[in-house]
Amino acid sequence: MIDIANNIQTLAEQSSDTYDLINPHTRQKIRAIPECTSEQMEKAIVKGKTAFQKMKALTSEERSSILEKVCEIIAENKEDFAKTITLESGKPIRFALGEVDRTIQTFKFAAIEARKLEGESIRLDAATNGGGRDAYTIYQPIGVVGAITPFNFPLNLVAHKVGPALAVGNSIIVKPAEKTPLSAIKLVEAFKQAGLPDDAYQVITGDGPRLGKVMIDHPDVAKITFTGSPEVGKLIKSQVGLKKITLELGNNSALYVDNSVRDKIKDIAEKAVVGAFSYNGQVCISTQRIYVHEEVKDEFLTHFKQVTDALVYGDPNDPNTDVSGIIDEKSQNRLLDWIKEAVQEGGELVTGGELQENGIQPTILANVPKDTNVSCNEVFGPVVIVNSVRSADEALAEMNDSIYGLNAGVFTYHLPQAFTFAHELEVGQVLINDIPTLRFDHMPYGGLKSSGYGYEGIKYAMREMVHMKFISMNYNF
Ligand code: SIN
Repeated sequence: MIDIANNIQTLAEQSSDTYDLINPHTRQKIRAIPECTSEQMEKAIVKGKTAFQKMKALTSEERSSILEKVCEIIAENKEDFAKTITLESGKPIRFALGEVDRTIQTFKFAAIEARKLEGESIRLDAATNGGGRDAYTIYQPIGVVGAITPFNFPLNLVAHKVGPALAVGNSIIVKPAEKTPLSAIKLVEAFKQAGLPDDAYQVITGDGPRLGKVMIDHPDVAKITFTGSPEVGKLIKSQVGLKKITLELGNNSALYVDNSVRDKIKDIAEKAVVGAFSYNGQVCISTQRIYVHEEVKDEFLTHFKQVTDALVYGDPNDPNTDVSGIIDEKSQNRLLDWIKEAVQEGGELVTGGELQENGIQPTILANVPKDTNVSCNEVFGPVVIVNSVRSADEALAEMNDSIYGLNAGVFTYHLPQAFTFAHELEVGQVLINDIPTLRFDHMPYGGLKSSGYGYEGIKYAMREMVHMKFISMNYNF
């Protein structure tokens, strides 16, 4: 087991304030967490700057070995990490164990890519008067990265920022979500054991807007990487000036089920349940809007409801639990309001819609008008809409009628139709014959429109955490 009492004590020594960390399932206090001061963040940045000098002096093999070692340490402490995720986020333990496995993969990809970050040679003699020179590009680390991470994947979405930052030779400070700081702190300890230079990865806990602003304003923070809401993302973008920035924001992920796949409707309905209700829909790419061809809609809805109604609500520590509490009461009340609004506006409540202890029943709404919140905004909860369409063209238009553009899924056997969706969907990632709630940790992952700016996915995130330098050697001098 990785003990983090000392890490929390060290943070607490510089700050007299604390806030209560609440278990989303029991709504009981877990422990007090230091509300770090702005000066603490400034000191962390100074320490991060020193650590950067050590990181950049390491060879890519040395950085890769540290990342490989951290994978071993996380694997040895898998249960411990998973229980921590469950404790602070309320994520059912089965899914928390899955998140730990994904985190190991994320760091493995970072270890691999650390050895492969290569520039290219450029033929300057292709330009008039460019001859007589050898020219090439190299990638260099940028310094201290400031990361702000969300509550829904308290370990793996931290890894998606820490892995690439360390792989290229930067140092990084993470300001984890106030609701889920423990996994990020545990990771600090794992990296210490893996031999990472001191302060190359630090965690500062407390108020997001205040501490985030210190990172944004500080001249020694070279890049901000943020995962969270579009509102906050847009605010950060308006404040960063010339710093590098990556934003992973929301989505109202759409799925189309074509009539050509009528023999697979049961199978697709089961997958869609996973997409809509995993971690109670508190996932950026949760399946939220399902458009089904009218010829197969009734069959789809019957199976979809059946599988949804069989989901087991319960204690997230129980391996049989599928769904449990919503992260907090405020989100719970917002979800109830949005469901009510959808029904008032003419949507049909197929199942769910009620409170269930500290959660919301998995909820399906059908024939929902598109200007309702559950359709046009990000639900981030266990609520999904199923609307019928008369054609693939209509589905495409509905899917694109969104302010978001992260992932979208399409089930079809029709090849030209698949190509049309692939080309015409206004999203960063198109998943043909998969649900939109799909992410492998090395694939590029980034959104259009209000869904983001820049890319994650280890190799792609690394490119956003370096400077590309061009070098020309004039050998006729
Ligand atoms: C997210 O919710 O932002 C990430 C989803 C994932 O990594 O699966």
